[in-house]
Amino acid sequence: MLTLLKLLKDGRFHSGQALGVALGISRSAVWKQLQHLEAELGLSVHKVRGRGYQLAKPLLLLDAAEISAGGLCEWPVHIFDSIDSTNAEALRSIERGVEAPFMVLAERQIAGRGRRGRKWVSPFADNLYCSVVLRIEGGMRQIEGLSLVVGLAVMHALRDMGVSKAGLKWPNDVLVGEKKIAGILLELVGDPADVCHVVLGVGVNVNMQSTDEVDQQWTSMCLEARRDFDRNELVVRLGAKLQQYLRLHHASGFTAIQLEWEQYHLWQGRAVSLIAGVNQIDGVVMGVDRQGALRLKVDGVEKIFSGGELSLRLRDDS
Ligand code: BTN
Repeated sequence: MLTLLKLLKDGRFHSGQALGVALGISRSAVWKQLQHLEAELGLSVHKVRGRGYQLAKPLLLLDAAEISAGGLCEWPVHIFDSIDSTNAEALRSIERGVEAPFMVLAERQIAGRGRRGRKWVSPFADNLYCSVVLRIEGGMRQIEGLSLVVGLAVMHALRDMGVSKAGLKWPNDVLVGEKKIAGILLELVGDPADVCHVVLGVGVNVNMQSTDEVDQQWTSMCLEARRDFDRNELVVRLGAKLQQYLRLHHASGFTAIQLEWEQYHLWQGRAVSLIAGVNQIDGVVMGVDRQGALRLKVDGVEKIFSGGELSLRLRDDS
């Protein structure tokens, strides 16, 4: 089915006969595959008698050669047409002994994972689903604040590409205003105090324009900048920004990034509720500490919070 899609991706008309010859199947089998393409991948195909088939919109697919030609992303890249989750595939690759660092990308995810057990909506060829695997040997210091560092790198990649209002929300969401444009999910295997592997999972809404499936306020690069984006260019720029900030973090720890992170924190000084399971703590955001934990003023006293299961909400009176 995806071979057929690759023949159609230029957005031009292709006759059923020519497609059948290229694929070594009958014209009616081509028709059946097209029905599947529409139903399964949510793509729309124009069918015009006498001319053949045409995708409603040309498709720019992920392309390893184009990414490496960009010259900025040093990591080997593994691209999948369809996968459960790039983070899950990254973890399987670690298990199989694939040597880190490397990057896993997919055109779509069937079971994309979000923070706190949520699903990450991952339609075909619209967005970026990316997992970078690192091997970490330096003990806890190399992990502290890492997810915030990834958020900062993602935000800069988006800004460089024209999403000038992208900002951060603790711990690692990238927002435009109050709408989420990118999310980050770190998963770790091994002993963080000794040697471990960390998977930096990054999902960016790139060309998605509509969906009923996302249950929070969201936006995309396309909706913000009013143009389509080439996801290969985003991978190149994101890879370069990640490498730049990870190098700084590796050499100097989160303290080297703390002030810059706060500068881009959209909720600095805002009245928020911190949600931890069924518990809620109200306070005012003061910033982050040297490890990337949240500093919150609660009843006039500064308190520190950290942990992957925490999330923030703006209070009505903020
Ligand atoms: C969040 O909930 O904000 C985190 C979303 C992380 C989504 C990305 S998409 C690529 C990688 N693979 C996954 O299954 N999840 C992350």
